[in-house]
Amino acid sequence: MSIFFEEKEKIFTIHTKDTTYQMKADAYGFLLHLYYGRRTQGCMDYLLHYADRGFSGNPYEAGADRTYSMDVLPQELPSQGTGDYRGMAVVVKNADGSYGCDFRYKSHCILDGKYDIPGLPAVYAGEKEAQTLKIDLEDVSAQVGITLFYGVLPELNVITRSACIKNNGTGKIYLERAMAACLDWVGGDFDLISFYGRHAMERNVQRMPVAHGTQVIGSRRGTSSHQYNPMMIIAGRETTEDAGSCYAMSFLYSGNFKGQVERDQFNQTRALLGLSDELFSYPLEAGEVFYVPEVVLTYSSAGLSRLSQNLHTCFRTRLCRGKYRDLVRPVLINSWEASYFDFSGASILALAKEAAELGVEMLVMDDGWFGKRDNDLSGLGDWQVNEQKIGMPLGSLIEKVNDLGLKFGIWLEPEGINEDSDLYRAHPDWAFAVPGRKPVRARYQLVLDFSRKEVVDYLFEEVCKVLDAGNIEYVKWDMNRSLSDCYSRGTKDQGRVMHDYVLGLYDFLERLLQRYPDILFEGCSGGGGRFDAGMLYYTPQIWCSDNSDARDRVDIQYGTSFGYPVSTVGSHVSAVPNHQTGRVTPFETRAVVAMAGTFGYELDPKKLSEEEKQKVREQIGEYKKYASLIQNGWYFRLTDPFASEVGAWQFLAEDGSEILVSAVMLVVHGNMTVSYVRLKGLPQNCLYREEKTGREYASDALMETGIPLPAEMGEYLAYQFHFIRVRG
Ligand code: GLA
Repeated sequence: MSIFFEEKEKIFTIHTKDTTYQMKADAYGFLLHLYYGRRTQGCMDYLLHYADRGFSGNPYEAGADRTYSMDVLPQELPSQGTGDYRGMAVVVKNADGSYGCDFRYKSHCILDGKYDIPGLPAVYAGEKEAQTLKIDLEDVSAQVGITLFYGVLPELNVITRSACIKNNGTGKIYLERAMAACLDWVGGDFDLISFYGRHAMERNVQRMPVAHGTQVIGSRRGTSSHQYNPMMIIAGRETTEDAGSCYAMSFLYSGNFKGQVERDQFNQTRALLGLSDELFSYPLEAGEVFYVPEVVLTYSSAGLSRLSQNLHTCFRTRLCRGKYRDLVRPVLINSWEASYFDFSGASILALAKEAAELGVEMLVMDDGWFGKRDNDLSGLGDWQVNEQKIGMPLGSLIEKVNDLGLKFGIWLEPEGINEDSDLYRAHPDWAFAVPGRKPVRARYQLVLDFSRKEVVDYLFEEVCKVLDAGNIEYVKWDMNRSLSDCYSRGTKDQGRVMHDYVLGLYDFLERLLQRYPDILFEGCSGGGGRFDAGMLYYTPQIWCSDNSDARDRVDIQYGTSFGYPVSTVGSHVSAVPNHQTGRVTPFETRAVVAMAGTFGYELDPKKLSEEEKQKVREQIGEYKKYASLIQNGWYFRLTDPFASEVGAWQFLAEDGSEILVSAVMLVVHGNMTVSYVRLKGLPQNCLYREEKTGREYASDALMETGIPLPAEMGEYLAYQFHFIRVRG
């Protein structure tokens, strides 16, 4: 049991292994937030403070009691229209044109298991692993109901939130804002940690004090975006990797979102995360419901490492699905950086043959195999193999690749369309464009209107024909531009289109998963432009960035690690000078960095020296040896590469029996000082043997002073230390 209800005071208490969350339906029926933090007992309603505050209005029923104001009280679902002037979770435009809703407690129920959400990604759990709290609130006069869902996974220290809004009236209403989760703190000084970036440089870490005013992150690009990731950490000012309180909010959604944190007039903090209210005005006819996508919440009193680990375990084991969830992923070679659009069936087979000799397990044929597609100006939308270019039917190519002992994977971008394509010529109205205007092009392509079922259905058929052409065991699902001109011919209510687009995408992916349960799907959007927890429900791995430079990847993967497990991070060894940065990094370093991910190659083996080829064989062997530890171990960030001369991270077996430490020297100087990398989270009083040197180390010393890195000449050298516990 993790959810408790105290009838007299109407107090809801949720306990996870290490955390407690508490709320109360008060005398007026408002659902007030009382507490979220380290596990505790008792009732925390003493935290509520009532005082007569000027210009903070009072609900009518409060009568002469001027100390009761929604403008001040912490809430679960602040809505516009109750006298709260802070950021809102819900805004409704009513059937009579008025704005406002006022939700009051009606009833609740506690169920075993975790709720799911029709058509949307959600954390899942067994009946005995989770409980669900559903709280029904109602605005009687507007005839709008909302059910709040709380999913509790006590062992994982995770609480999920979602909601279902229902139009109980007779007229049409519009949902103008729908946030999935609100966290209100009555006191405290916090920092907001958010993840910003750009194409090929995603998820940089920004830590800023939460100040008076509102800090907002979000996307209006139709995808979750390279620019801001849909996840936020709210941490105490003193919180570090290893100590202090912090909260994570991660949105399971792949489209427009908004996250905001606000410090109010009384120094209280409010954090909201959910759908963006820009370009959003969702109609609900009488009787219709709207499901708000889910937010995952977790709390750690032991710093940011633990917070990330909570998310890692949850996403790796209870969000990702399918056959490959727990399997070590095949080591793949991708044709993109090896040959871009310039390949033939024969050159793909040559690549496969070389790769097979090196121990690679899967060949992925990237962009360029279909339609008229020798560059990015044409062909997108025509999902028929270009037999002239490939020289044979797709099925024959796949067979030949399989005969070489490799699995076969393929690249797809079903959401995109070039104007120079047969599909566009047949259905120009399927691409987003505002009538009477020329659409914005990006990468010389437009976006298909996935909010329309007939478009999704057609593309689904086409994609199935491709996937039925042979033994395809992997699909890279790409999406190479931001949405624009989102006018749909399928509806009069344009304010629903960008959300319906995401629902169309999820519907497509779900149908694919059901029909092809054995295919491994990898998400991609110009690298990490749609690296979000929503996509992870459909694709257990995502190409982390189009930037494959090992030095930059240290930063990108560091930022990514705050919210996402290593098992989801697509990462490959590529050629030097790197194609995105021109930088030269050692071959070993590229492998060490790619091993903090799904591991593969993105280069032409023909161009490798014999010595390098031998290294590839060894790297694959090493990766295989560590793969289970990398995938399932506790992940620790050992340094902050934005602030340190070393980028270092660690995998620790759950039972402490094994450790893998990776370190990359980020700078080099004359007469180098020695860098010591301090390990984390080891059991005390143990002895570990480092495999390569055979030397033994005490666990406490490894954590206290660390392991010295050799002070060698050369840029971006990398080191890996593999420790086995020999005593303790
Ligand atoms: C995107 C992907 C790349 C590659 C190209 C192909 O940019 O991120 O990995 O697949 O598209 O056009």
